[in-house]
Amino acid sequence: MPTLPDAEALDRADPFAEFRDRFALPEGVIYLDGNSLGALPRSVAARLEAVARHEWGERLIRSWNEADWWNAPRRIGDRIARLLGVSDGEVIATDSTSVNLFKLIMAAAGTRDGAIIAEADNFPTDTYVAEEAARLLGRPFRLVAGSGMVDALVADVAAAVITQVNYRTAARADIAALEERARRHGTRIVWDLSHSIGAVPLDLARDGASLAVGCSYKYLNGGPGAPAWLYVASALQAKLRSPIAGWWGHADAFAFDGQYRPAPDIARFLGGTQPMLSLLALEESLTLFERVDMDRLWAKSVRLFDLFAARIEALCPELTILTPRDPALRGSHIALHHPDAQRIITALIERGVIGDYRAPDIARFGLTPLTLSHADILYATGIIGDVMASGAWRDVAIEGGRVT
Ligand SMILES: Cc1ncc(COP(=O)(O)O)c(C=O)c1O
Repeated sequence: MPTLPDAEALDRADPFAEFRDRFALPEGVIYLDGNSLGALPRSVAARLEAVARHEWGERLIRSWNEADWWNAPRRIGDRIARLLGVSDGEVIATDSTSVNLFKLIMAAAGTRDGAIIAEADNFPTDTYVAEEAARLLGRPFRLVAGSGMVDALVADVAAAVITQVNYRTAARADIAALEERARRHGTRIVWDLSHSIGAVPLDLARDGASLAVGCSYKYLNGGPGAPAWLYVASALQAKLRSPIAGWWGHADAFAFDGQYRPAPDIARFLGGTQPMLSLLALEESLTLFERVDMDRLWAKSVRLFDLFAARIEALCPELTILTPRDPALRGSHIALHHPDAQRIITALIERGVIGDYRAPDIARFGLTPLTLSHADILYATGIIGDVMASGAWRDVAIEGGRVT
């Protein structure tokens, strides 16, 4: 079993060690939930203060031009495009993942006949939105098990909603293989990359993906409820229409001529006035990724995972690792099964190890390479081992299904 000297040796060789100090993490906490809400980058707090006091407080409405607020969704979209492996002008930062899913499903299915299908184990918002889009368009709707998705991508399907990294188990789907199949049958896939972006290396252009959405508050550290993003490959942009024809998506927003003409480019997927404070916080958090090589970051995630998994196997025989061990088949969190996962997570949070719980029986721990050291993993797994060996989690009371 790896021990502290092993973890310290890995920390000495860690190319991302300097990033840790750029986050405002509280003392006494090992934060293993950056896959749900990323930690606060210190520079984001400073930027928010400057934006509020100067750009808004002093410059007032002049900041739409002076600070180029108007172009923030595109500008931030271009930064995100680099993490997706696509080009400038193909991504826009806007709205929530749920709203962007609705826009892209309606746009994709609107161009062709056929059913809308969704992976049954998507995050629930994906299946809710997909089913409602099918109802609005008067199309059949089908839920498909992840393992059956390749076979389900057939000619009578107009659009499929698939998450690349599963929010529970972190199992990772093969974008290139599924896109290849979709192309052969004339189907379009809308990818949810919420658990992928900023965690796993992505190359959507190489893999043939043309539509995707994702959130920014997980591995991108954009803050609670940060604006999400959407990607539409440039070749498709003029062919697809957003179901929300807002003035920010107009070809000439300031013409005010009462006739909706969608912008010729990615801007047609904007609705109305965008949340500037949240967008500028996200823009600042993305500066962290400017000098990050995603392959190297992923290599650190793999090291953190291997350390975590080896220690859990040695220390906690009653916890089962659900996440695939092959790095090519998973994302950047680790999921452990236990019938009392909720009590265990609560006991851990009381001891400063913050992970989370997904019903009914999964404990999740985010392995975020920008904020975590190998020693953190060592200490955290030690505390998990103590909680399991002592049975301390049994003392956590649950009332009415909720931990109290
Ligand atoms: C895969 C996935 N999609 C979507 C969402 C949430 O979407 P929204 O930001 O619209 O709440 C989550 C939230 O954790 C998620 O894990």
